[in-house]
Amino acid sequence: MQRKILLAALVAAAPMPVLAQSGDAVARSLAATCAACHGTEGRGVPQAFAALAGRPKGDLVSILQAYKTGKIPATVMHQLSKGYTDEQIEMIAGYFAAKKN
Ligand code: HEC
Repeated sequence: MQRKILLAALVAAAPMPVLAQSGDAVARSLAATCAACHGTEGRGVPQAFAALAGRPKGDLVSILQAYKTGKIPATVMHQLSKGYTDEQIEMIAGYFAAKKN
């Protein structure tokens, strides 16, 4: 009985497959969250959500950092941006900057 519990704990603690993926795949899966609002591959939703695709990486990083630190007003982006490390923000911004809109 105790062994089964230990085994379950070990399985739960095993690294998620995402950690084993290459940098590009990690960036793509992180950026997939943004598509829910900002459109497929960040191409934007007219009159609703800003496009992210093709915008300079530095601009996206500064905006996301400004949301994270509460420097610019937002409704949802404050909470969202706080969920990412600075490295993840760099990866997400790089992903969208490399996309064509
Ligand atoms: C739940 C919907 C939603 C999701 C998911 C979402 N955003 Fe946003 N985003 C918004 C809204 C709404 C705004 C306008 C600011 C606000 O009210 O928060 C915005 C604004 C932005 C802006 C500023 C656009 C501009 O031109 O000023 C950037 C950059 C941005 N989001 C990036 C992202 C990134 C990167 C992700 C994924 C990590 C993401 N967003 C996920 C809703 C969302």
